[in-house]
Amino acid sequence: MSALSQKHLLGIKYLQLSDIELIFSTADEFLEVIRRPIKKVPSLRDKTIANIFFENSTRTKLSFELAEKRLSADVINFSASGSSVSKGETLVDTVNNILAMKVDMVVMRHPNPGAAHFLATQVNATIINAGDGAHEHPTQALLDAYSIRQKFGNNLKGLRIAIIGDILHSRVALSNIFCLKMLGAEVRLCGPATLIPRYIDQLGVEISYDLMETLRWCDVANFLRVQHERMDVKYFPTLREYIMQYGLNSQLLQKLNKPITILHPGPINRGVELTSQVADGEHSIILQQVENGVAIRMAVLYLLAGTRK
Ligand code: CP
Repeated sequence: MSALSQKHLLGIKYLQLSDIELIFSTADEFLEVIRRPIKKVPSLRDKTIANIFFENSTRTKLSFELAEKRLSADVINFSASGSSVSKGETLVDTVNNILAMKVDMVVMRHPNPGAAHFLATQVNATIINAGDGAHEHPTQALLDAYSIRQKFGNNLKGLRIAIIGDILHSRVALSNIFCLKMLGAEVRLCGPATLIPRYIDQLGVEISYDLMETLRWCDVANFLRVQHERMDVKYFPTLREYIMQYGLNSQLLQKLNKPITILHPGPINRGVELTSQVADGEHSIILQQVENGVAIRMAVLYLLAGTRK
């Protein structure tokens, strides 16, 4: 078996193209496994994995837990709410106490950018970043790119992919940019100027403030959630105006006269980024993203377990 170049998955930034290709080819095999009547393999039956979540999650948390169980790992789940974090225990103490229970790998979501990277320097376990603030969400980017490949074939070179919406507060955007650029896609960001970070064009992406023009340009549009919970000031006048300028509905899609593939990492603000007709429509691959997420996470867990003896 080939190995990943990294001992942890902290961000797409640290991966090489060969790592991504290995994760995808391994995910192909696990996708076949999870579509069987018996969806389980014994690959990680000697491993114990802790999922520690300092921030809310539905998809990522359940997808990791299911991936771990499909690989026959022992799993423990920790949520910061209701834990001794409220008594002032530090992140490193919390994780070292969990590791003392003979845990091999830690999957962590944390509100602070760099938290997973910090943890990897402080504790003796494999760390997987399940989202750190507005920094990176590597498994989301991997499952997004994998889902796009499923639709368009293995070669994403020259494919035009737009990332639309609240780029500023998004960890999905940065991981997607790194991943899609490495795979050779053309990437454009579109949203209100206030929600596009300054200098992000230095990552080799185009910027547009015009949704219709961007939709005409792209083959794939990945709509990102407006993250109200991370906004301490207003970034656009009213939600209604945001929807009018950056929300996608069926009328806009019809005007395009060409199909585009729609992604969204979830959770969706229905009626804001996408109307329900679009989110549930024929061009949406949102639920395929979720299915693929389990296979991608199985691949990441399996490959990282192999880097640690
Ligand atoms: N896409 C995503 O990270 O969703 P959750 O916040 O529900 O995990």
